[in-house]
Amino acid sequence: MSEVVLSERLQERIKTLISRYPEGKQKSALITILHEVQNENDDYLTTDLMDKIAEILSIKPIEVYEVATFYSMYNHKPVGKYMLEFCRTSCCATRKAEDMMEYTCQKLGVKEGEVTPDGLFSVRGVECLGACGYAPMLQLGDFYHEFLTKEKIDQLIEDCRAGKVELISKV
Ligand code: FES
Repeated sequence: MSEVVLSERLQERIKTLISRYPEGKQKSALITILHEVQNENDDYLTTDLMDKIAEILSIKPIEVYEVATFYSMYNHKPVGKYMLEFCRTSCCATRKAEDMMEYTCQKLGVKEGEVTPDGLFSVRGVECLGACGYAPMLQLGDFYHEFLTKEKIDQLIEDCRAGKVELISKV
């Protein structure tokens, strides 16, 4: 394992998160810590980072891997600044989610999981995002984009390129 050095800010943040739980229950902070570590590492987790988290929490690395690979919000390789996550579960699937995703991949010139050469976009299929009544839909950052059409996707990509798309909710 290569030596992983977390920033002081992150180390302090992790200490605070762990302190919210009773002695011996530090693992409860795992999901939030994974988010914080991912955010500070260009939006993806490496094995070394996950091992470091296991060390900090005094748990086995497999306990970190299990969680980090279960949830689609954790990335394990570099992703684009704008990660377009298409739901492709039942309701979205019946309303042409696959077509929307394929259209987007073709438009951007990438396959699922790849990053555009300019580092701006990635496309990924995910499981139900709980907005079934608004199918087909995608998630971009903290926001949902619903009732997708090719025209809406064109506009969204154009807005991303123009730097007009917020990724983080201020609420
Ligand atoms: S099936 Fe797509 S949000 Fe639920």
